[in-house]
Amino acid sequence: MDYFHYLDGVLHAEDVPVPDIAAAVGTPFYLYSTATLKRHFQALDQSFAGMDHLTCFAVKACSNIAILRLFAGLGGGADIVSGGELYRALAAGIEPGKIVFSGVGKTRAEIRQALEAGILMFNLESAQELRVVAECATELGLVARISFRVNPDVDPQTHAYISTGLAKNKFGIPIAEALDLYRQARDPAGVEIVGVSCHIGSQLTKVSPFVDTIGKLKDFLGRLATHGITIRYLDLGGGLGIQYDQEQPPEPADYGAAVREALNDLDCTLILEPGRVIVGNAGIMVTRVLYTKTGEGGRKKFIVVDAGMNDLFRPSLYDAYHAIVPVVQGRRETTVADVVGPICETGDFLARDREVTAAEPGELLAVKSAGAYGFTMASNYNSRPRVPEVLVNDGEFHLIRRRETYEDLLRGEMIPDFLK
Ligand code: LLP
Repeated sequence: MDYFHYLDGVLHAEDVPVPDIAAAVGTPFYLYSTATLKRHFQALDQSFAGMDHLTCFAVKACSNIAILRLFAGLGGGADIVSGGELYRALAAGIEPGKIVFSGVGKTRAEIRQALEAGILMFNLESAQELRVVAECATELGLVARISFRVNPDVDPQTHAYISTGLAKNKFGIPIAEALDLYRQARDPAGVEIVGVSCHIGSQLTKVSPFVDTIGKLKDFLGRLATHGITIRYLDLGGGLGIQYDQEQPPEPADYGAAVREALNDLDCTLILEPGRVIVGNAGIMVTRVLYTKTGEGGRKKFIVVDAGMNDLFRPSLYDAYHAIVPVVQGRRETTVADVVGPICETGDFLARDREVTAAEPGELLAVKSAGAYGFTMASNYNSRPRVPEVLVNDGEFHLIRRRETYEDLLRGEMIPDFLK
């Protein structure tokens, strides 16, 4: 449930008419609703109420510091995958003791940065990484709390690019080999085993892969215990899907109930790393129609808008579906068209062969469910400044990231002397 709705035929974010925001900040832009963000955070978090747990928002899904600050205020922690995300999380006021560091390729510099910040836990992915973390911690005279990310070989039944829990994926340590690593990790100075972690994929629309994973993890925890290794944190990762089109993912409460039942008497703190389920449907991207044109002897229609694949990459990269609706509802008929951007690539589309409301130049369109992996995957391709982000709250809108300027585009570039 989100707070984007039509009032007298005009799309509103909470109580604010979207055309007013477009007039103030120009197009394209990302628009988030505070009420929706809060509601989604709390729906997920509260489905584990009464159970010792920590909700660590996956920063990669939507990393604006205003949004991270909102979650910090709701008690949230962060799941980070880079030094840059750590920097953001801390700048937003997320407590270091609520930050977990995931990712398959952490550098020494990032590991040191996280050790110095005093994060809760490193989710390690290899024996080599264990050695590096132990070395960094010893050099700094600190102790790294660690878990290993185990790969349970469960099919998350999602898009191949966002499955992570299959044996063939690069992520984690095969669960059959993980025991050995845990035994190795007991010895080195500088590390303390505190957890087991896992993340099997994203945009899951069923609970069964989570339940199967928990079954395997519980077996594994039993094996660890027989070797005298007990843990304080079980990190289940993120992955719960949202509705983009016709899919019917479980509600957070159903997911929570299934996870709790499968865990049954977990004697440690549960960590969750949700991203998409919290922010996905709490954000839209607003774009303006520039032109309409036809191809294939008039049979193919194109609606050319001012947002491109550099602004929202998901349709091009995953053939992902994002609903596209008019911001002002007219009485116009529908048409089948490609909604395309200005980028010089055939792959630059927001929708292909889609039945949409016919649109004319100058009209505004809303690309829905764009809150997760929307702005964070944006680039400057074709030297397009990245678009602003706006947050609506309580009848007002706030710019939380300004539109980039041409100066921003050149920042950091230089012409060496030999070319002067
Ligand atoms: N934890 C870890 C270790 C992850 O790798 C991810 C996402 C998450 C948590 C959060 O997953 P979520 O709850 O959002 O499903 N760019 C793709 C999604 C990539 C997901 C990568 N990992 C997309 O646009 O669909």
